[in-house]
Amino acid sequence: MVEKTENFLEDIHRRNYEDPFLQRMCRWNSWVDPTNRTTESLNGKWNFAPDWYDTCRRAAWYRERVKDSEGHPLPLDFDWESWERIPVPSCWNLQKPELLYFEGAGVYTRTFRYRPLQEAERVFLYFEGANYRTTVFLNGIHMGTHDGGSTPFSMEITDTIREENRIVVSVEAYRRPERVPMENTDWFNYGGIYRDVYLLRLPPRFIRHWFLRLQGDGSFSTLLFNVEVDEGKEPIPVSVQLRIPKLGIDVPIVIQGGKGNACIPLRTAPELWSPEHPYLYPVEMLLKEEKKGNGETRRWDRVEDRIGLREIRVEGQNILLNGKPVFLKGVSLHEDHLELGKATTPEILRSTIRHLRELNGNYLRLSHYPHHPRFSRIADEEGVMLWEEIPVYWAIDFTNPITYLDAENQLSELILRDRNRASVIIWSVGNENADTDPRLSFMGKLSQRARELDGSRPVSAACLVNHVKLAIEDRLAADLDIIGLNEYYGWYDPDLTKLRQLLNNSRPTKPVVICEFGGDARAGQGGTVEDLFSEERQAWIYREQLNILRSYPYIKGLSPWILYDFRCPRRLNRYQESFNRKGLIDSNRSTKKQAFAVLADFYRSL
Ligand code: GCU
Repeated sequence: MVEKTENFLEDIHRRNYEDPFLQRMCRWNSWVDPTNRTTESLNGKWNFAPDWYDTCRRAAWYRERVKDSEGHPLPLDFDWESWERIPVPSCWNLQKPELLYFEGAGVYTRTFRYRPLQEAERVFLYFEGANYRTTVFLNGIHMGTHDGGSTPFSMEITDTIREENRIVVSVEAYRRPERVPMENTDWFNYGGIYRDVYLLRLPPRFIRHWFLRLQGDGSFSTLLFNVEVDEGKEPIPVSVQLRIPKLGIDVPIVIQGGKGNACIPLRTAPELWSPEHPYLYPVEMLLKEEKKGNGETRRWDRVEDRIGLREIRVEGQNILLNGKPVFLKGVSLHEDHLELGKATTPEILRSTIRHLRELNGNYLRLSHYPHHPRFSRIADEEGVMLWEEIPVYWAIDFTNPITYLDAENQLSELILRDRNRASVIIWSVGNENADTDPRLSFMGKLSQRARELDGSRPVSAACLVNHVKLAIEDRLAADLDIIGLNEYYGWYDPDLTKLRQLLNNSRPTKPVVICEFGGDARAGQGGTVEDLFSEERQAWIYREQLNILRSYPYIKGLSPWILYDFRCPRRLNRYQESFNRKGLIDSNRSTKKQAFAVLADFYRSL
């Protein structure tokens, strides 16, 4: 605390200005499922300014104090309407050249009108993603703060919203050692509100979130259903009616303490979701008030969705999809686009899946953080299996309890957001972390957390080779269902003979997925296989790697690094030019390199 001297000036001398905003955090337990809800978009042009000294939060610009107590005008260092306007969603880095490497606090503001559409309506603000710490003010009042650059968050604004509103959002993208990820990554630190923002209008009592899946016992005969209800200010007796007409299901689920669970036997064998048959069932849930006497019940809320029913589990060294062994023919992917940065569009997602089809693939590793929520919905429809991951990346501060809470919250928000998506088959709790005791405890707890929220999917992580023993040996493997492994023989370690030795030395008792291998190549760079950064060298690495990997039955999937070249300020040689060039396709998302055909031929041969 700073001593309040007689000449103390709050706005410039106070050091702990951020603390009050950290008392009201938006976390997984305040998240509302927005699926198919009536939403009012707040997308569009917002006034924006880079707030280099974080003054909006430090000197409380959001209070819009424009006169003193005697009515005299005060000199302001902000003037919302004179600021430039940038699109929400977008990454500020790509709005103008001088903002490309801006990693500070950006302040967004706009006004909007609101009128209630139903009696006792409740209103929530919903952000699908903003990087990294988002502090939200409505009409001069702090509404909530969220940490995490890739997961959704929502906050209730019912008591603060009025007919005419001003929203002010400060988003800071500082890279810090205690954050998730920490300050050192191999990708570009895009900042801003880069995913959709909208209002959610909800009834006084509503369905907060739910989870429907097959019981993973290999019988495909039972559904498990969990639902959480916000009972409003005065709880009353309610139930949730679950309807899946095509399965002849129309059952009431009793709600107690805001929660309901059910184990529902299936009278008919369901059509199982798979890449070959991405079948989705329409599902409806009605929140109803149980009235005594005349039996008349009032309907409070209705949600609907389309759900794929499938089973994914591990048996010995096999990954079983609907009881049959499956090989994951994939490739890794960043959320990185030449013009949009970490923002994306349905067209970009569909074009990515078209490239996966050209690779004869059936699987994508969405690294190293939760991608756009639309991706798993499109993958549900298209029949693509997904690995989803939180950015517990490299040297996280594994001894810091605040860092753990941040990581666990991001994992919880990801799982609540996507656990109804059949396409998501693996949760990953991190990537390339040194095998230390604190990391083992930290990521072991994350694995446990994943299973608490969703026992229906395998948990994995991208582990490193034990290069002393030259073996797949990572203590975290005991907490995982599938062992992910990153190895770069032929590139970072040119000696490819070590790959065969490594695989011969290893005795995994679980399926192994090679999450990364590859090498850089600048599209169009000719040369020989000896020439680093040539396409020939990259293609040679793929040929050699695949020729070795194909002969180890415990390897059940591949997601080579990476589908597209991506921005990366660590990559500074004349071939890279601040891009990681391990893409099979150039950052223009159209020029394929020679290695693309090598992988496509391999997957076609399986
Ligand atoms: C690592 C890491 C990636 C990185 C890649 C590379 O395995 O997981 O994030 O981009 O190697 O070095 O290109």
